Amino acid sequence: MKKLKVGIIGCGTIGNEIAASCMGLLKDKVELKALYDIDRKKAEGLSRLIKRDITVDSMDMLFDKADLIVESASAGISRKVVEKAVEKSKDVMIMSIGGLIQSEGLLKEAGKKNIRVYFPSGAVCGIDGLKAARLSGIESVTLTTRKPPGGLEGAPYLKEKNINVHSIKGEKVLFRGNPLEAVKGFPKNINVASVLSLAGIGAKKTKVRIITSPGYTKNVHEIEITGDFGSIRTRTENVPSRKNPKTSALAILSAIATLKGIVESIKIGT
Ligand SMILES: NC(=O)c1ccc[n+]([C@@H]2O[C@H](COP(=O)([O-])OP(=O)(O)OC[C@H]3O[C@@H](n4cnc5c(N)ncnc54)[C@H](O)[C@@H]3O)[C@@H](O)[C@H]2O)c1
Repeated sequence: MKKLKVGIIGCGTIGNEIAASCMGLLKDKVELKALYDIDRKKAEGLSRLIKRDITVDSMDMLFDKADLIVESASAGISRKVVEKAVEKSKDVMIMSIGGLIQSEGLLKEAGKKNIRVYFPSGAVCGIDGLKAARLSGIESVTLTTRKPPGGLEGAPYLKEKNINVHSIKGEKVLFRGNPLEAVKGFPKNINVASVLSLAGIGAKKTKVRIITSPGYTKNVHEIEITGDFGSIRTRTENVPSRKNPKTSALAILSAIATLKGIVESIKIGT
C-alpha cells in the first residue's frame, strides 16, 4: 500500500511527537517527507533527531512534498495553512484550532474542493457525543477550564487586565465569555474551546470559563452539554506536557490518534 506523505509545520512539542510517531508507530503507513519551522534551528534539530535531512525553507516547499500537512505551529498561521491547502488541493490536520474560529467560509470552500481538514479533539473528551447531539437540538455547551498559573503565563488577556497569575492566592475565575473572546485572550491555551464550538453550537453560543489556582497541577477541562438527546458531562484531567506546560499530554496523543485514524481502515467512534 502507498504510504501517506506527511509534512509538519511547527517543530515544537507537538511537532516532535508527531514526527516520532511517523517514524515509529505509523512507519508502515506514513512517510514523513518534510519539516518546516519559522525557527529553522527547530526543524533542523528535529531532522537530526529522526536522522533524516528533510528540513525545508518554506511552507510552499512543504506543501509540494506532502499529501497531508500537519499544522502544529501557532494560531497566527493555521488559517493561512488551510488557505494554502485549498490552493494546492492538499489535506490538513490543524492543531492551532483557535486560528480557524469563525472561518466557516474557508471551511466550506475546502469542502467544495473535497479537501479534508482534520481537527483532533485535543485535551478534551465528549466531542464524539457533541457531534452526534448536534444532529438534534442542543440547548447549551459550557466549557470550564482549570489550569495551573504557569500554563496561562503570557496570555494577552492577563496583560490587558494587568493580572499576575503568580500572585493569585486560592482559586480564581479569570475569564468568562465565549470561545471568540477566549481565543483572543488566551490564544495558546484554549484550543479546546474552538474545537467545541466547531463541533457544537458555534463560537457565539458556547460558554467558556477559565479558572486558576496555585494549588492546581493539571489542566482540567469539564464540558456540560444539554439538549434534546439528554445531557453530557465530561471531566478530563490532563497532565501538562513536560516540554510545554500550555500543552496537555492528551492533546499530543489525540493528534497522533487522529493521524492513525486517517491511515487505518477501521474507524471506531463517532
Ligand atoms: N488542538 C489542541 O488540542 C491543542 C493542544 C495543545 C496545543 N495546541 C496548539 O498547537 C500548537 C503547537 O503547540 P506546541 O505545544 O507544539 O507549541 P511549541 O511552542 O512547543 O511549538 C510550536 C513550534 O511552532 C513554531 N512556529 C511558530 N509560529 C510558526 C510559523 N508561523 N510558521 C512555522 N513555525 C512556527 C515555533 O518556532 C515552534 O517550534 C500551538 O498553537 C498550540 O496552541 C493545540
